[in-house]
Amino acid sequence: MGIEPFSDPKSIDLTVDIGGIKMKNPVTVASGTFGFGREMADFFDLSLLGAITVKGTSLEPWLGNEYPRTVETPSGMLNAIGLQNDGLESLINEKMPFLRQYDAPVIVNVVGQSLEEYAEVAARLDSVEGVDGLEINVSCPNVKKGCLAFGTTPEGTAEVVRAVRDKTDLTIITKLSPNVTDIASIAQAAVDAGSDALSLINTLMGTAIDPWTQKFRLANITGGLSGPAIKPIALRMVYEVARSVDVPLIGMGGIMNALDAVEFILAGATAVAVGTGNFVNPMAAVEIIDGIEDYLKKMDKSSVMEIVGKVS
Ligand SMILES: Cc1cc2nc3c(=O)[nH]c(=O)nc-3n(C[C@H](O)[C@H](O)[C@H](O)COP(=O)(O)O)c2cc1C
Repeated sequence: MGIEPFSDPKSIDLTVDIGGIKMKNPVTVASGTFGFGREMADFFDLSLLGAITVKGTSLEPWLGNEYPRTVETPSGMLNAIGLQNDGLESLINEKMPFLRQYDAPVIVNVVGQSLEEYAEVAARLDSVEGVDGLEINVSCPNVKKGCLAFGTTPEGTAEVVRAVRDKTDLTIITKLSPNVTDIASIAQAAVDAGSDALSLINTLMGTAIDPWTQKFRLANITGGLSGPAIKPIALRMVYEVARSVDVPLIGMGGIMNALDAVEFILAGATAVAVGTGNFVNPMAAVEIIDGIEDYLKKMDKSSVMEIVGKVS
C-alpha cells in the first residue's frame, strides 16, 4: 500500500455571473478606490480580480471639488472628491487600452448631470472593446447636479436606467445610494427599468468639524462616509434588497478582509467590492479572494454560489 500523492481534496468553484458578466471569482474593487488600475498594477496582477471596476466617468472631464477632499474618521473616512475624472474620450483612448491587457472583465462606473449625459456615455461605451458592463452611479453624494438627485427616488432611478438601457446591450449594474428611506423600492424600480444587477452601497453622507479651528474639515462641508464604520448598514441593506429583487447583487461597504466579504455573500450578495480597504492595504482584494477560498474549504463547500444568501 503506497502513500497517495497529495491532491487538493476538493476544488472550489469561485466563479459567479453578474447579469451576464462572468467573473472568475466574486471579488471586484469599488469604483473610485482603484483609479483605472494603473497605480494598483504595481502591487499585483490585475487579472487576478473577478472584475475591474473603474472610477466614475462622465462625458466631459470634471474637475471635482475644492481641497481638502478627504478626512479620516473613526473606523472610516469621508471623501468629497466630486467625481473628478478625465472624461469619456480619455477613458476610451488611454485607459481602456491599458486595461485590455488584463484577463478580467471591466465595469465602467458612469456618472452624469442629466439623462442625456448618461445615455450618451452609455451609447459611446456600447461598442468599446473590453468594456463588459456599466455601473450606473445614481448615488454620488458629492456632486451638486444630477446623480444622487436621480437615485433618491424610484422614478428618478428608473428614468436613468431606461435611458441607458435604450442605448446599450452591455450588462447594466445600478449602484444604489444608502441615503434613502426605502432602498428596496429603489432597487425594484431599477430592476423593472432593465437593470441586470445592482451594486450597493455607495457612501453615507456625513461631515467632520475641527473643534480648534471651528471649521468644517472638508471644503465641500459634507462628504461620503466609507470603511468599516458603514459595514453593518451596508450588510442590512444588501440583506433587504436581496429579499426583494431577483437579480445578482455586488455588495460593498467596509469590506476589509475575507470574512467581511463572506458576511456580504451570506446576506445575499453574489459578488463583493473592496473599496476603502484598498487604501489601507493595496493587496486587500487578492488576499480576500484567497481568504474566501480558504473559508469555503473550511466550511466544506464546493462553490461560492452555495453560500449566497444563506444567512439564517
Ligand atoms: C475616495 C473614494 C472615491 C469614490 N469614488 C466613487 C466613484 O467614482 N463612483 C462610485 O460609484 N462610488 C465611488 N465611491 C464609493 C465606493 O465605490 C464604495 O461604494 C464606498 O466607498 C463603500 O465601500 P467601502 O466602505 O469599501 O469603501 C468612492 C469612495 C471613495 C472612498
